[in-house]
Amino acid sequence: MKRAPRANAYRDAWCGDLDASNAGAPARVAGWVHRRRDHGGLIFIDLRDRSGLLQLVVHPENGAELFAAAEGLRGEYVISVAGDVVLREERNINPDLPTGAIELQATDMQLLTESLTPPFPLDDEEVSLDETLRLRHRTLDLRRRTMVEALVLRHEVVKTIRDGLTAEDFLEIETPTLTRSTPEGARDFLVPARTAPGNFYALPQSPQLFKQLLMVGGYERYYQIARCFRDEDSRSDRQPEFTQLDLEMSFVDEEDVIDVNERLMAKVFAVGGLDVQQPPYRRMPYDEALLRYGSDRPDARFGLEITDVSDALRGSEFKVFASVLGSEGGVVRAINAGTREVPRSELDALTEVARRAGAGGLVWAFVQEDGTWRSPIAKFLSAEEIAAVTAALDGSPGDLLLAVADTKDTAANALGTLRLHLAERWDLVPAGSHDVLWVVDFPMFGYNEAEDRWDALHHPFTAPTGDLDDPGALRSRAYDLVVDGWELGGGSIRTHDSAVLSRVLEIIGMDAEEAQSRFGFLLEALRYGAPPHGGIAFGIDRIVALMGGRDSIRDVIAFPKTASGFDPLTGAPAAVDDAQLRELGLRPLDAPAKTS
Ligand code: AMO
Repeated sequence: MKRAPRANAYRDAWCGDLDASNAGAPARVAGWVHRRRDHGGLIFIDLRDRSGLLQLVVHPENGAELFAAAEGLRGEYVISVAGDVVLREERNINPDLPTGAIELQATDMQLLTESLTPPFPLDDEEVSLDETLRLRHRTLDLRRRTMVEALVLRHEVVKTIRDGLTAEDFLEIETPTLTRSTPEGARDFLVPARTAPGNFYALPQSPQLFKQLLMVGGYERYYQIARCFRDEDSRSDRQPEFTQLDLEMSFVDEEDVIDVNERLMAKVFAVGGLDVQQPPYRRMPYDEALLRYGSDRPDARFGLEITDVSDALRGSEFKVFASVLGSEGGVVRAINAGTREVPRSELDALTEVARRAGAGGLVWAFVQEDGTWRSPIAKFLSAEEIAAVTAALDGSPGDLLLAVADTKDTAANALGTLRLHLAERWDLVPAGSHDVLWVVDFPMFGYNEAEDRWDALHHPFTAPTGDLDDPGALRSRAYDLVVDGWELGGGSIRTHDSAVLSRVLEIIGMDAEEAQSRFGFLLEALRYGAPPHGGIAFGIDRIVALMGGRDSIRDVIAFPKTASGFDPLTGAPAAVDDAQLRELGLRPLDAPAKTS
């Protein structure tokens, strides 16, 4: 698409938009010197603007002054150049460049700004760049083509969302950033209030409470591209400050929310050229996801599914299995890893992977020609047990079987981690394959052993189904959208009855006084005619990273933070003046921690 800028003194065309159809016409472009090459009396310059690269040629016969100016150019100098678009000779055509069939023969050049030599090359081939260095010089890093592509894609995703939801009668409404705590399971970022020393605003972990107030306020269909703040350790798919598409709808049940959102996501995936199945997306109950994939965000693009082999081993005299299966919630689960030559050292490494994921150990066994096992535990099992486990796993001679005996959760987590590890190790994900699914039928609560209480698996505003007197058996009306093992979004139908919400808050250990002090405004609002409502939030950073094929969401955020929450560009977080602290009613530390 041509985006000819309004012609002015600097330019009348974007570099990347010129092509053979412009041959013979004059043009003026402006941008950064990407590369300069001197070639047998000619100077070639690759000029870069946001749209791409254009080759300029400077001939000595076009003027000594012009030629001298071109000779003086260095990388990242900013220039404006006028000339004639000409077709390149056949042998000079560069098929890798959209403008590769033409070049601009310069007739006039203005140097607008010089540049220091960049601390790293801005060519995209330099993938091994140190990330902290890139973030320290993010201004330059943003000039790299991959960054431009990521941010253009991000813009297109957000635009698709805005257009799609506007067409479905949603209203975009902003909610506060300086507010009170929203429980989404992370720590809050706090902002001290100067006008009320000793008091703090919390930055929102999500707009959850406000969007529910908007529903009670009658706004029926709301959305927002919302900045959220969570003080938790960063990872490749987590930032302390990230962006959600947050939405909420009134007079709806699960089907309505899922329907609107899968239609929207299909448009978003199409914009990113992600080759995925069309909606409706399949739904997988939480229990099944945990059993078969060991995760509530299953990556179902490859096999290595988990099988529960407890029944085949019940009554076994092998101590490890007997004690696990004899205790409450104990299971033996296993993966058939297929026919693989795996040396002992690697089996030890796999055991370590399972251990790090919480398992006590990993049992391995190779099925032999006669159906027996080559395994350190073979001698402790009966022939019937070995045959039953092999059959349950559909094992054939040569197959490697991997098993974990533990509690359900630990076995699921260990084998879930192991299957992802093996998929990467053995390159099992077919290139370009993608898979979208909803995970549904979540338990409402999970038992928190350390704190000896129930925690809401989503958040406490999610509507439970079942008997409130049996928290462990309650299910919730929640749904997560999972793509290729990434949780892209999650939401639920909410509790719109304040009595039920009070009871849920009680179950998670919040007494009436605390509930009133933290969420009194929501509990009260629910008493003034709350419509049934529900919604969802998607991580925009994750959507763009996934569609752009990036491993980390840092690569699709203009100014992200490092894993330790530090911004090498601005130096945030940073110490502040004692006077500023005193004004906020805070006492300075003797020695503030160094950040880096
Ligand atoms: P939840 O906490 O599941 O739900 O968040 C929704 C989506 O936001 C993204 N996300 C993140 N992305 C980057 N960095 C983070 N630290 C981070 N944390 C979450 C994920 C996730 O799926 N209020 C509810 C939604 C609702 O019930 O409507 C909520 O925030 O993609």
